[in-house]
Amino acid sequence: MAMGDAHFSSGRRSRRVVVTVVVFFFFWGLISLSCAASPDGDIIDCVHISQQPAFDHPFLKDHKIQIRPSYHPEGLYDVFENKVSTENNDGTNAITQLWHVNGRCPEDTIPIRRTKEEEVLRASSVKRYGKKQHRSFPQPRSADPDLINQSGHQHAIAYVEGDKYYGAKATLNVWEPKIQQPNEFSLSQIWILGGSFGEDLNSIEAGWQVSPDLYGDNNTRLFTYWTSDAYQATGCYNLLCSGFIQISSEIAMGASISPVSGYRNSQYDISILVWKDPREGNWWMQFGNGYVLGYWPSFLFSYLADSGSMIEWGGEVVNSEADGQHTSTQMGSGHFPEEGFGKSSYFKNIQIVDSSNNLKAPKGIGTFTEQSNCYDVQTGTNGDWGHYFYYGGPGRNANCP
Ligand SMILES: *[C@@H]1O[C@H](CO)[C@@H](O)[C@H](O)[C@H]1NC(C)=O
Ligand SMILES: *[C@@H]1O[C@H](CO)[C@@H](O)[C@H](O)[C@H]1NC(C)=O
Repeated sequence: MAMGDAHFSSGRRSRRVVVTVVVFFFFWGLISLSCAASPDGDIIDCVHISQQPAFDHPFLKDHKIQIRPSYHPEGLYDVFENKVSTENNDGTNAITQLWHVNGRCPEDTIPIRRTKEEEVLRASSVKRYGKKQHRSFPQPRSADPDLINQSGHQHAIAYVEGDKYYGAKATLNVWEPKIQQPNEFSLSQIWILGGSFGEDLNSIEAGWQVSPDLYGDNNTRLFTYWTSDAYQATGCYNLLCSGFIQISSEIAMGASISPVSGYRNSQYDISILVWKDPREGNWWMQFGNGYVLGYWPSFLFSYLADSGSMIEWGGEVVNSEADGQHTSTQMGSGHFPEEGFGKSSYFKNIQIVDSSNNLKAPKGIGTFTEQSNCYDVQTGTNGDWGHYFYYGGPGRNANCP
């Protein structure tokens, strides 16, 4: 990976300089060309692509936007159309974003979900708004289990490690899990991790989440996250700090996904692919079959400027034990893996991008959960779904008091 290496040193250098650029510029700096009101109460601003928050980053002042990746691991990217060729897959149900009901953004603009003042005020501090709490990553080989329980984050995940990874893909079943306390959340995502699980952990994350504190409602929303220092000073959700550079005019980060799956009812899923461009070193993200959202510049990271060392797929909730008992916040569908399709939530066709930049089935998949009586995970393999797993659970129940 000569190309990745070329970016390694600049990533190293930037790591200490990426300081707490805070979120308040959100209320001022953006020049919105038009906007759309979404039925869920969101306002989506269409902002010129060159005016997006990413460019507030000191290292991005002279950055030339990459309007397309130089490489796509499925070879599907049509450089002339600037689109991934959309083949309808296997009759799964199409998902859109709710705000499309009332409008779209023009070419050369990107849709940005407008942050409401009360959302920032709900956060424990302005500096923490849009950030995960520390140590929010699942740590399968944890030497210090107390730490996991202390932070109150619980996971049910599948993972691979021990190789160099240049991306990951999965199709995620989409649900709307119930959240007991507004300061808890429930999410389902892919993690691309680099480095040790110390203070310098690098992470790129994407998936769906329900987070009343972050968004003011219980809707299921598309999200991304990144950090280069284990969730301390750098990184944030979506476009809430400078970092991710968006190129898509069609998909808004943090916007509601609709419809969602129902128990013994219609099932909906989204696919997410994150891969490293071997030429530029940037990490790109694709949503669904056709939407290339944008990229995380290589220099945001230290370890991930080269490659990932671990990939995780699965769910995470916060268990605040507000009433001295385990929270009843659900993960996935709120039902255990044993129940299977239509009842329990799944990830299917989980894949990694290997050092030849090809999508491959992951080898040696492990699973991890802190308390399997609260949230569990079960893997499997078959012809249609490749490597898959069911995950999640109800939280509090007779066996999880
Ligand atoms: C977390 O705490 C619960 C309840 O105290 C315990 O049963 C469980 O084993 C702990 N998990 C880990 C990974 O230590
Ligand atoms: C979110 O759901 C909880 C119950 O799970 C409910 O108490 C709360 O009012 C809901 N919040 C909003 C903003 O709808």
